[in-house]
Amino acid sequence: MYLRPRRNRKSPAIRALAAETRLDAADFIQPLFVHAGREDEAIESLPGCTRWALDGLVREAGEVQALGVPAVVLFPAIAAELKTPGAEEAWNPDGLVPRAVRALKQAHPGLCVITDVALDPYNADGHDGLVQRAPDGSIEVLNDETVEVLARQALCHAEAGADVVSPSDMMDGRVARIRHELDAEDFEDVSILSYAAKYASAYYGPFRGALGSAPKDGDKKTYQMDPANVREAIREVGLDEAEGADMVMVKPAGPYLDVIARVRETTTLPLAAYQVSGEYLMIEAAAASGWVDGRAVAMESLLGIKRAGADLILTYYARRAAEWLGEAGG
Ligand code: PBG
Repeated sequence: MYLRPRRNRKSPAIRALAAETRLDAADFIQPLFVHAGREDEAIESLPGCTRWALDGLVREAGEVQALGVPAVVLFPAIAAELKTPGAEEAWNPDGLVPRAVRALKQAHPGLCVITDVALDPYNADGHDGLVQRAPDGSIEVLNDETVEVLARQALCHAEAGADVVSPSDMMDGRVARIRHELDAEDFEDVSILSYAAKYASAYYGPFRGALGSAPKDGDKKTYQMDPANVREAIREVGLDEAEGADMVMVKPAGPYLDVIARVRETTTLPLAAYQVSGEYLMIEAAAASGWVDGRAVAMESLLGIKRAGADLILTYYARRAAEWLGEAGG
């Protein structure tokens, strides 16, 4: 017997040489929750995560950046009284997100600040788009009307200084409309990271608890994708690329590694994957029960997402994973 694959595993040094995939803090995007209150708050539905007040947000973002994480993405908890059927707060230039973007860019000009473009935090109905109610109580999430409003929201974020706007709404045609709006207003340099293949997933539950943004009626299956489909993901990514997306995303990540791998083959754009709240919490819960080694499982999950083909990973572990990578000596 002379073919012995174990030779390539015989020592840490050889394993480092043979490693095909490596995690790096520069791969991560840190999601950060922000609210208008004065105190940072622990998030009950998302243990280990914080709803930051503006000061805390700026401090946390600076620490995350210092660990080598290049970008943060903001999610606002909007006060219930500001949520309206028309979601007008979504493009208020003095709203929470524009204030947060300005504070972050002033304190950390080199940090990449990404904003989420969708109506669910602002919409009294909790849907990502505008909702039309029929007399029989059934609802429709309007596409073209929503796209107009999303363009205003994206422009408002760009005016505040966002580096990247990230439509997570899954309306048809929104990337082209947002690109047009940004270019018309001289924001050619603001990038679009599109949630191109976003599935109607039960793994988003804890996130919706964090923002109080669960849909009041119905579900999101008329706009988010059917978890059964992968060819459709390739179609969605192709459309967003043609419409001018600079980067595309698959979401969730862990249960959709095949989608990440297939999409990787079909686009030359940077590909992001979002390890969502439910994925994070399943690891945290198992670790808290002593059933798994949380750090090892978290890092293996992130490595799996990267090995499947993701270049970038949005993850609630971004800060901790960057710290762990630092401890391991890179
Ligand atoms: C909504 C949005 C959601 C997430 C990010 N943006 C929830 C949803 O689509 O209902 C989920 C993120 C997570 O679960 O971590 N625009």
